Amino acid sequence: MTNKPRYAEASMEAMYRIFTVPEAPGSTLGNIDQKLSQDLAGFLQEHIVAVEKDPEELQKDFSDSVIPEKPIFVSDQADFLMDKLVAQSVHTASPSFIGHMTSALPYFMLPLSRIMMALNQNLVKIETSKAFTPMERQVLGMIHRLIYQRDNAFYKKWMHEPGHSLGSFCSGGTIANITALWVARNCRFDRDPKNGFAGIQRVGLFGALQHHGYRGAAVLVSERGHYSLGKAADVLGIGRDFLVCVKADARNKIDLQQLRDKVAELKANKIAIIAMVGVAGTSETGSVDPLDEMADLAQEIGCHFHVDAAWGGPTLFSKKYAHILKGIERADSVTIDAHKQMYVPMGAGMVIFKSPSLVSSIEHHADYIIRKGSRDLGAYTLEGSRPGIAMLLHSGLKIIGRSGYEILIEQGIEKARTFARMIQAEADFELVSEPELNILTYRYVPAFVKAKLAAASAEEVDRIHDVLNRLTKRIQKNQRARGKSFVSRTTLTPEAWDRRRTIVFRVVLANPLTSHEILQDVLAEQRYIASTDTCSECMAELHALCDDRPLHAHAV
Ligand SMILES: Cc1ncc(COP(=O)(O)O)c(C=O)c1O
Repeated sequence: MTNKPRYAEASMEAMYRIFTVPEAPGSTLGNIDQKLSQDLAGFLQEHIVAVEKDPEELQKDFSDSVIPEKPIFVSDQADFLMDKLVAQSVHTASPSFIGHMTSALPYFMLPLSRIMMALNQNLVKIETSKAFTPMERQVLGMIHRLIYQRDNAFYKKWMHEPGHSLGSFCSGGTIANITALWVARNCRFDRDPKNGFAGIQRVGLFGALQHHGYRGAAVLVSERGHYSLGKAADVLGIGRDFLVCVKADARNKIDLQQLRDKVAELKANKIAIIAMVGVAGTSETGSVDPLDEMADLAQEIGCHFHVDAAWGGPTLFSKKYAHILKGIERADSVTIDAHKQMYVPMGAGMVIFKSPSLVSSIEHHADYIIRKGSRDLGAYTLEGSRPGIAMLLHSGLKIIGRSGYEILIEQGIEKARTFARMIQAEADFELVSEPELNILTYRYVPAFVKAKLAAASAEEVDRIHDVLNRLTKRIQKNQRARGKSFVSRTTLTPEAWDRRRTIVFRVVLANPLTSHEILQDVLAEQRYIASTDTCSECMAELHALCDDRPLHAHAV
């Protein structure tokens, strides 16, 4: 329990002290510091959320809107954080936490991240970041090379070239996607002094469309595209309705014929196509769009080709599986998140540009800070002040190395394939999306329901699906509340079920510590939950719909 906090007097001396006096090794903060460094996993396991509290209960500890008048002791605040925050946070590093893209971190990230914190460099410009700027430029160069494979001479010329950049480091995939489409939009309506057009940067989208005689502007992506693209369409003035979501095929990849049809439709309606976005690892199913064919089409119609590889980009580390992303090297820009499959703490995304001069379309200068002709990275980023987190990717790339990342990527893909076979071997589970990378979806379908579905009428299938959707939701929520393991859930419209709305379990296999035994346990626990009271209503409905006699619960 947290004791009542003790208050101190605010004084200049006290303010001075918090900036200058480090915590003593035996103090509460000193102990936390030491424990975190020595045994991160152990520390978190002691504090895993044991009993799920509902959000209203949790927010009671954070309900005071009054800023404390007097300072409290650091140790009291540390106690509060341990008790109310850490104890109620999510153990994302657990090998049985396999529902989201946020996973375990290598141990070395924690002590190294202290360097970043302690130095508090600001990458907006060299004056506040010094060596961090060339280091970030080097990291952007390394990732550029991973994608585009240019030769040494290219990187020698461009990596540190003032007025240019091979990419833009940012806080994550969302900002990376917005930045990519910002560049695409500005290039599409670049200044054209000969024809009296000052450029979209100056006159805005309305002026640009008027000048060029368009009725709107659009971005094309598959219906499985990430929701950040909708935000991008909104902030860039394109409008969410003009983020054209093209149907995906049975494998959750963009349907190329439908894409061509949409392109023709937009052209006929005088809508300018700003960009086409290929997804390399969709958030829900991990599917990769046919990038090469999309690059052909983008080239044919002369529009920017962006690849959102926030999740799947690091597949390029694997010699065995890099071919899945074939065509990515033809993209004008690529989003990659280092805080996903490169195992860097949150807040590390990148957009990489094929051409080092593309960023000039969004270049921004301010006399006091990011001057023209400088190497300042702030000239090409949406964000202003930014931390030196590229330092941690730099460390990952060196400490793990290409071959280390290759092992991590390959184990994830292969484990997902094994899990898919495990699911298919069970009489009471149904694989909904086959993993192309390391994400898959499935659901619990008792054997007697499977038998019924095989010969059911369309209306019967509808009714059974409706109950199965409720059952999947119940199992997922209950499994989360039990706190042993976690898978997420989403809704798909699989072709195998005539595009019926289908709620599925979603599994993301990025943690190398997730074993086959853990995966078996996840299935066993789901089967067990289905046999308990929580699901009895749904099960009774299924038995009734399938003319089957109920089964008895077996404890796990
Ligand atoms: C394909 C894809 N793009 C973009 C994003 C957005 O990334 P972030 O959450 O880092 O902003 C995600 C996040 O899950 C993603 O899966």
